[in-house]
Amino acid sequence: MNRNISLYDALGGEAAIRSIVECFYPKVQNHPLLGPIFPEDINPVMEKQFLFLTQFFGGPHLYSEQHGHPMMRARHLPFPITPERAEAWLSCMREALKEAGIDSELAAFALERLSGPAHHFVNTTE
Ligand code: HEM
Repeated sequence: MNRNISLYDALGGEAAIRSIVECFYPKVQNHPLLGPIFPEDINPVMEKQFLFLTQFFGGPHLYSEQHGHPMMRARHLPFPITPERAEAWLSCMREALKEAGIDSELAAFALERLSGPAHHFVNTTE
């Protein structure tokens, strides 16, 4: 990857992040471990994830501008996040990156960046 551009730009900027988010949430909703802990109206979550991933991958700080400090681990505390759910989240994301047509090397890099936070958000074993 060209080291002078952000992962956000390498992925394809706003259109790519939108597409990843749109591919991701149907998989989350259909996943037996993940679906039940997400609200039925997924649109607000999708919008926040678009804002957050934009910022997380090195694009404009849209999430912080609208919602303040991310504090993502704290924001996930109300939800029981087991190691299995973290793996499930990452596997839905792996499929979403593929479906969104992200180059496989870039997708692996993005997943590696997400894997630290995903495991860090684990807050229960059951
Ligand atoms: C480890 C597995 C994960 C699970 C099970 C999980 C689950 C959830 C749930 C249940 C919500 C709340 C939906 C609601 O508003 O009711 C949420 C929100 C969110 N998650 Fe996750 N999540 C995980 C990992 C991640 C990761 C790795 C990221 C990004 C690095 C992330 C980013 C977000 C964002 C941006 C929101 C919206 C926060 C807000 O309300 O402002 N999540 N997640």
